[in-house]
Formats: sequence, C-alpha cells, structure tokens
Amino acid sequence: MSDDLKKQAAKAAMQEVRSGMRIGLGTGSTAKHFVDYLGAEVANGFECLCVPTSEATAAQARSLNIPLTTLDEIDALDVTVDGADEIDSNQVLIKGGGGALLREKIVAAASAKMVVIADTSKIVDQLGAFPLPIEVNKFGLGATTNLVKKIMNDFKAQGDLVLRAGSDGQPFETDGGHFILDASFGRISDAKALSSALLEVPGVVQHGLFINLCAAAYLASPEGVVTMG
Ligand code: 5RP
Repeated sequence: MSDDLKKQAAKAAMQEVRSGMRIGLGTGSTAKHFVDYLGAEVANGFECLCVPTSEATAAQARSLNIPLTTLDEIDALDVTVDGADEIDSNQVLIKGGGGALLREKIVAAASAKMVVIADTSKIVDQLGAFPLPIEVNKFGLGATTNLVKKIMNDFKAQGDLVLRAGSDGQPFETDGGHFILDASFGRISDAKALSSALLEVPGVVQHGLFINLCAAAYLASPEGVVTMG
C-alpha cells in the first residue's frame, strides 16, 4: 500500500483521541504515522499517557516526547490504534506481520476500544491468504512445530509452516524473546476454532488472530477513507 494511504488512515484515526486519554500505540508502518501525528499534537500541548506495543514504537514515541507508561502502572486504556495484515467483514484480524502480536493483543485487550488503520487492500472476504503469525516459546520448538503442523492439517491448510527469519538470516526474535512460526492456511473458515486449537498447544504463546477486539477501522483508498464499525 502506498505510504500516502497509510498516512490518510492514520490521520483519520486522530479523531478517536482526546486530550487526557490513555492510548495504546500500535506497531508497523501505518501505526508509525499515527504516532507521528500524535507526537505533533503533544508538541502543541495535547496531553496523553501511552502504552507502546513494541520496543520500536517505544523508541519512536520517546523521540517525539510522547509520555509513556506500562500496563503495570495503569491497568486500562481508552483506545488503541494499530495496523493490521488482514481484516474481514466481522472485523476479525490477522496481525503480527511486524512480529509484535503478543504485546499488540495484550494492549488491545486492555483498551476500551481498538481502532485499526490500514488501506482497503487489507479487507478480505476470507482470512488466511496472509500467513498467520504464531508466537512460540523457544523451548521445545520442534515439538511445538509438529503440533502446529497437525492443527494445520486438521484445518486443511493449503500452505507451509515456516520459522520466521530476521534480516540477518537468523530466526526472528520477538520483543518477548520468542520465535514466530508463519502458518500459510490459504483460507481460515473458523477463526474461533482455530484460535482455541492453537492456544491448546503448550509452546504456543499467542497467535495473530484478533477476534472480538477491533471495534472500528479506518481504511484508506485512493477515493478516500472508509470506516467500519
Ligand atoms: C505488527 C502488526 C502490524 O500492525 C501489521 O503487520 C500491519 O503493518 P503495516 O502497517 O506495516 O502494514 O501487526 O505486528
């Protein structure tokens, strides 16, 4: 998606925030624009207290003097604004393309409202063309991989399971010190059942299916920004 569309979606989501709010800050190239817009408002006296969903977002927010806190200091947020890799008509998401899915889900679940920003190319009829990121503990990787493969078989996955690599060719490590398996399902017809099955695997820390978390979405196209929810 063009950077301009990412910016448009991020700018539109600024209408969700008010001075004094506690705000969750997403991760990724679209969320980065939202943090830039928020930083510009903070420079003009806008007050907020924010929880970042990754070390990268935390560093960006600090560079913009956005006040940060943690979910240890406060236990709830008013709104979280974050990107997505896929969104369906029920506002079920696939997230984690940037590897921040665990913190993103914790922060979204602690928020009164989760708002997604993306371009309309992220809208899908059926989830699953984007490989589902599954965050796994390093311990027992082989055994966990086998159990996830079995689930992929049960759910008639059409593609492979791949251990995500970083830019250095080594396994990608999340901020929480875990690995990510990218599972190509092709199509996911029962996201809830798949979610439950994956969470039954002891080595699975979390997965990128966000169910009943996204309350609204700002989706940019060359014709303008459309809203869902
Ligand atoms: C990171 C995410 C991102 O929000 C998602 O990958 C979308 O990223 P982008 O805005 O760069 O397309 O889930 O873990």
